[in-house]
Amino acid sequence: MNGKSSGDDDLATAAMRAPWNETAKGWNESGAIIRPWLHQATQAMLEMAGVRRDSHVLDVAAGAGDQTLDIAEKIGPQGHVLATDLSPAMLELAARQTAAAGHHKVETRISDGQELRVEDARFDAVVCRLGLMFFEDPLRGLREMARVLKPGGRACTMVFGAPQANPCVTTLMSTALRYAGLPPRDPYQAGGLLSLGKPGLIDELFSEAGFSEIATIRIAAPFSLPTVKHYVNFVRTSAGPIVEIVQRLDSATAEAAWADMERALSKYQGPSGWEGPNELLLTAARIPGRH
Ligand SMILES: C[S@@+](CC[C@H](N)C(=O)[O-])C[C@H]1O[C@@H](n2cnc3c(N)ncnc32)[C@H](O)[C@@H]1O
Repeated sequence: MNGKSSGDDDLATAAMRAPWNETAKGWNESGAIIRPWLHQATQAMLEMAGVRRDSHVLDVAAGAGDQTLDIAEKIGPQGHVLATDLSPAMLELAARQTAAAGHHKVETRISDGQELRVEDARFDAVVCRLGLMFFEDPLRGLREMARVLKPGGRACTMVFGAPQANPCVTTLMSTALRYAGLPPRDPYQAGGLLSLGKPGLIDELFSEAGFSEIATIRIAAPFSLPTVKHYVNFVRTSAGPIVEIVQRLDSATAEAAWADMERALSKYQGPSGWEGPNELLLTAARIPGRH
């Protein structure tokens, strides 16, 4: 099945999808920035999920398919990868770029990660890179991953870590909210960028979803760019949740908000470039049973 139909498109789904459809092009065009930023963490994620030659892998919240390329590379021509995402615009790009790279064992399917349109016990491994924290109900997302894994299969998710280890994210969000006249948000609010950064939370959710052998590691993944302007430009085109708030403002106020973010984040500018601190959590676990 090559899921081009979006099925039951209720209002909640449309609202979740909108910011990502709008920034799909930007996320894809920022590949040159995202790829080196997440390279090491992505390789670790595939390792921790047990992705190997010939594996059948589900890529949840696959976006424009950057990590899908790495999966396809690793599993080889006899493996199979199903890339799923809520956003048709993102998946369209994923399909295009994996085909252009010559990976013909990649299938795409529009699917909310909280309600996967996938049969039970089909995959050896499931990965989800920077997606699970956006789910309104991440436990439901993890239960779905557990359901579609074969007995003994493994999952690995990548999410942002604690707020204090991700000061660029907290600065962007607090500035956007202030300019929009909105009250500060609890950083752990469900569906937010840092919602799964609360110490211990993601392990508890994996356990509740039925996984065993759960282990989380923290990885420093600083953003290294020539200048702070490059970083803010990346955010302006690609960071759905921030863009969604700033685009409600009139254009002068929006420009002032972006300029303020740039000013605040310029403190990470050094003699050899701009380096914004960033911490990721990789959580891997296994579904009981023999594989
Ligand atoms: C930050 S992007 C990450 C994309 C890709 N995994 C990567 O790392 O390049 C977040 C992705 O999560 C997807 N997403 C958000 N909520 C989702 C949900 N409930 N189900 C499936 N995908 C979702 C968005 O459409 C978007 O493509």
